[in-house]
Amino acid sequence: MDFRLICAVLLPLLAFTRAEQVKFADCGSVEGKVSQVDISPCPTQPCELHKGKSYTVNVTFSNVDSQTSKALVHGVIAGVPVPYPIPNEDGCKSGIQCPIQKQKSYSYINELPVKAEYPSIKLVVEWELRDDSSKDLFCIKFPVKSHLGI
Ligand SMILES: *[C@@H]1O[C@H](CO)[C@@H](O)[C@H](O)[C@H]1NC(C)=O
Repeated sequence: MDFRLICAVLLPLLAFTRAEQVKFADCGSVEGKVSQVDISPCPTQPCELHKGKSYTVNVTFSNVDSQTSKALVHGVIAGVPVPYPIPNEDGCKSGIQCPIQKQKSYSYINELPVKAEYPSIKLVVEWELRDDSSKDLFCIKFPVKSHLGI
């Protein structure tokens, strides 16, 4: 096969699957310090979410002590938070080995599925992970654009 053809096929594929560090805002993390949020695939920011696709969210945080962790996700549309269902709300089954210890750093990994019935709009995703006492272990938010899939 021609080298240029290999490049033409492989490079866009690599660009598409690479995790991107996204800009995020803290929305009330009580103890946790979030150092990085990666979303894959997200070649341009704000991330464009296509219907029928699923996105991987990777939140790296530290400074937390907790036995359990439970995720709560909202899509904020024109200032109104709407519950956003995710397949697994147990953080301890999402890349985190519980109990969570203060001196360690963790990467919370989960899927953000975009269902066909969601509207095509700009919204803010607010992602909370709660600790044993239902306090926000972390709360992050990032803008996304939702698109009709092809
Ligand atoms: C999540 O992000 C952290 C920080 O960049 C990285 O070290 C880790 O490998 C990532 N995990 C996955 C599964 O992508």
